[in-house]
Amino acid sequence: MLNRSWTMARKPPLGWPSDGDFELIETPLPEPAVGQALTRTIYLSLDPYQWGRRRGGLEAVGDVCHGRTVSEVTVDNGSEFSPGDIIFNTNGWQTHGLTGAGVDVFGYMFPRKLDPDSAPISTAIGILGMLGLTAYAGVYVQCDPQPGETVVISAASGGVGQAAGQIARIKGARVVGVAGAQKKCDFVVDELGFDACVSRLSPTFAADLKSACPDGIDVYFENVGGEVYENVLPLLNRNSRITLCGMISQYGNTDGRDAGEVWRQTGAPFFERQAVSVHGLHVRNFVQSHQEKFLAEMTEWIRDGLVKYREDVWQGLDSVPEAFAAMLSGGNFGKTLVKIGDDPTTAQAPETQRARRNILG
Ligand SMILES: NC(=O)c1ccc[n+]([C@@H]2O[C@H](COP(=O)([O-])OP(=O)(O)OC[C@H]3O[C@@H](n4cnc5c(N)ncnc54)[C@H](OP(=O)(O)O)[C@@H]3O)[C@@H](O)[C@H]2O)c1
Repeated sequence: MLNRSWTMARKPPLGWPSDGDFELIETPLPEPAVGQALTRTIYLSLDPYQWGRRRGGLEAVGDVCHGRTVSEVTVDNGSEFSPGDIIFNTNGWQTHGLTGAGVDVFGYMFPRKLDPDSAPISTAIGILGMLGLTAYAGVYVQCDPQPGETVVISAASGGVGQAAGQIARIKGARVVGVAGAQKKCDFVVDELGFDACVSRLSPTFAADLKSACPDGIDVYFENVGGEVYENVLPLLNRNSRITLCGMISQYGNTDGRDAGEVWRQTGAPFFERQAVSVHGLHVRNFVQSHQEKFLAEMTEWIRDGLVKYREDVWQGLDSVPEAFAAMLSGGNFGKTLVKIGDDPTTAQAPETQRARRNILG
């Protein structure tokens, strides 16, 4: 058996991913050194930050593309694991990977054994993992919405957005989502219980957002930047709060400008006039302090049906570059995962090109 891997084929030009950025190679399976285990990848997480790493030169030509995974131990050579154990690891965009102790870019220890009886294993790289903690930190810890306040969440149906909006609802806020396709807007209102959701693609977006927020905006969860942000700014109330989680609309910009600086300059007059607090968010700053509390609360919320989540699961290693580009341009619907190998904890679904999993509590 061979290991199949997507590697960096070239230094990415500015802009969005395109054909020719990645190359699929086959190599012999790696041999675990003493203290290591060989694993096969079950689920691979695709995240916007991965493009930032590549654009920023953190992955060199020929490197296997980085990615966090849920994997199964197949061969143990004196590691802490046994064959059959399901673990959180960072195998990257490939079918197999070795274990090696470390801390990932978000401050999570890996490898780490997962308990398939406590939650579906894919949630370790989704709602119960980094994404969920990001949402929890931004809403719950940084912005602390009060009952009746209006909270706006951009990229509302995505991995972070769906969790952030539901946490704000639990806090008693009135939650307004912004999403792309109308079906995403319908989903966050009908299935996730947001109070309203407006489509950023509508020609009447600015007016729609204003009428969805008749009392202005008290908290803005920023995932996208760009036009959505520009239309949020005039609606910010006095003493409102922003968590600056990300600005995906700028991750493929080609003008060479510093997106963060542009974001701050655009907002500065509104921030000053309305005494807005802006909280930069990096989830790694909350792993030590909040991971345990977050996991306990989120697990309970899911169990009680207060939080639901949707995963967008692509099938097979070959689909990874396409799934990645789709996620960056709004072609995903929920947290983007790729199922690389069989999931021994679930009944096998028919192998379709793409299975959308809608897990409602
Ligand atoms: N600060 C942290 O520690 C941290 C941690 C994790 C993630 N993040 C950030 O959180 C954000 C969401 O990440 P995610 O993993 O949950 O991804 P996601 O929301 O599942 O997927 C990305 C979504 O962004 C939206 N989008 C794409 N292009 C856009 C554009 N030009 N304008 C507006 N929206 C656009 C699309 O939603 P629609 O089609 O619905 O518009 C797309 O579905 C990203 O900015 C990411 O960098 C930050």
